[in-house]
Order: sequence, then C-alpha cells, then structure tokens
Amino acid sequence: MTPMSRRKKLYEGKAKILYEGPEPGTIIQHFKDDATAFNAQKRATLEGKGVLNNRISEFIMEHLNRIGVPTHFIRRLNMREQLVREVEIIPLEVVVRNVAAGSISKRFNIPEGEPLPRAIVEFYFKDDALGDPLVSEEHVTAFNWASPQEIDEIIALALRVNDFVSGLFAGAGIRLIDFKLEFGRLYDQNDMARVVLADEISPDCCRLWDMTTNEKMDKDRFRRDLGNVTEAYAEVARRLGIMREMDAANGTQPESVESE
Ligand SMILES: Nc1ncnc2c1ncn2[C@@H]1O[C@H](COP(=O)(O)OP(=O)(O)OP(=O)(O)O)[C@@H](O)[C@H]1O
Ligand SMILES: [Mg+2]
Repeated sequence: MTPMSRRKKLYEGKAKILYEGPEPGTIIQHFKDDATAFNAQKRATLEGKGVLNNRISEFIMEHLNRIGVPTHFIRRLNMREQLVREVEIIPLEVVVRNVAAGSISKRFNIPEGEPLPRAIVEFYFKDDALGDPLVSEEHVTAFNWASPQEIDEIIALALRVNDFVSGLFAGAGIRLIDFKLEFGRLYDQNDMARVVLADEISPDCCRLWDMTTNEKMDKDRFRRDLGNVTEAYAEVARRLGIMREMDAANGTQPESVESE
C-alpha cells in the first residue's frame, strides 16, 4: 500500500478522507469507520463500516455507470479506498423520497412508512454550520449554487438513480425508503462542465427497510440507538451478493494492494 504519509490529504470529512489521486483529476476516497448523526453531535466508531460502505457504494456506482448514469467512480483500490474523478461538488444534498420517514414525516405529519404519492426530490444547502437547510429551486438558482439547466439534469439523474437502485434493492428484499445524493461538475478539455453523481451511495445515506419485516438496515439504527448497525450493513451487502465469501468482521485489515 502507498504509505499514508506520502499521499497528500485533501480533505477529511466525517465519514471519509480524500487523498490526492495517482493522476491529475483523480482522488482517492477512503472510507472510515466513523459515524456521526444530528450534525455530528452524536459520534461513534463502527468497526467494519468503512469496508462495507466502500463495497456497497462500488457495487451501486458500477451498476449506474453501466446503465449510462455518469458517476465519479473509476475503480475500487482496496478494502477501504476507491479511485474517483475529482469534481467540483455542487453544494446541495439531493434527497429522493419514496416513502415518508425522518424530516418529511415531521414536517407534514405523515406517519413513517406511508408511501408518498410519487417520488419527491428535495434540495438541502450543504452547510453544516447552518444545519443543511431545505431550500427551493429559487434559492439554488438565485444564489448560483446550480444553473436551471443543472437543476434539470440533477432531477433527471436523481430519478433515474431512484428507479434503478430501488429495483436493485427490491431484488434483495429491501425497500428504498429515501436517500441522499451529491452531484459534481466534471470539466472536459474544452472546459465544458457536465453533471455527474459523486460521493457515495451506502446505508449511511439511504433508508433501507426489510421488505417483509420493515426492519431498518441503515444509519437510523445508529441515530435511534437500535444496535447491530454494522451487522445490518453487512446484511445489505450479503443480500446484494457482495462479499459473499467474506466475513465483514474481517474487513478491518487493509488489503495489501498497491494503490497504483
Ligand atoms: N468526486 C469527488 N470530488 C471531490 N469531492 C468529492 C467527491 N466525491 C465526494 N466529495 C466530497 O468529499 C467529502 C466526503 O467526505 P465525507 O462524506 O466524510 O464528508 P462529510 O463529513 O459528510 O462533510 P461534508 O459536509 O463536506 O459532506 C464530501 O465533502 C463530499 O462532498
Ligand atoms: Mg458526507
């Protein structure tokens, strides 16, 4: 493995670290075991979570690339790291909801678990200090966080991701209740930007319920102190057919694979 000290750390977030990649325009996403909730007021280390999220996000992003949804994902490097294209992150958390849960249940007094009339796309301004407030398209365009055309692309991509990933999970006996996406701008040689899916898709940023029992299989287990958080993530991976031969609990040892 490339010695950590020789790699330039670009950013350390709550769940991931970004390192400079081997070629210009690439970065390495390193998935940590750290978990935070309620704007980082609640923290814990969940052994093996990073390994599981790396694998689950790889699996989903690869499928999306294959069906023509542009993503930042290039390839997985090792147990905890993946090579991705560096993008200019659009400062929005794009949430797609199929079933009421969490803040939409509170805001409109809809019981958790009630299916919504149709998939709803919401924008939150990505700013921890402000608590990621819900914003309208008017705010997004007026403050120049994204252009009207980019908003259209983001909504279209978010809905495509929702359709495809809902199906992927349904095949594994899991209902995709809602999820959060981040998008970024990827510039080509002519400095033309296109919108691509970035960040991750994992149980950290999805609500996933068992289709038959409604048991939660996502980060709500951590937020609500339900226990067995990593066990639930491992079950998601197992049902998707990832890591079949691997014990998730073994996943804490980094693989000794050269990054490049
Ligand atoms: N392809 C990419 N290029 C550049 N930045 C990216 C890319 N994919 C994700 N990011 C950014 O990398 C960071 C990932 O770290 P992490 O998820 O731990 O952040 P976080 O603690 O949630 O903080 P933040 O509020 O910045 O998202 C995020 O800021 C995310 O926006
Ligand atoms: Mg994040």
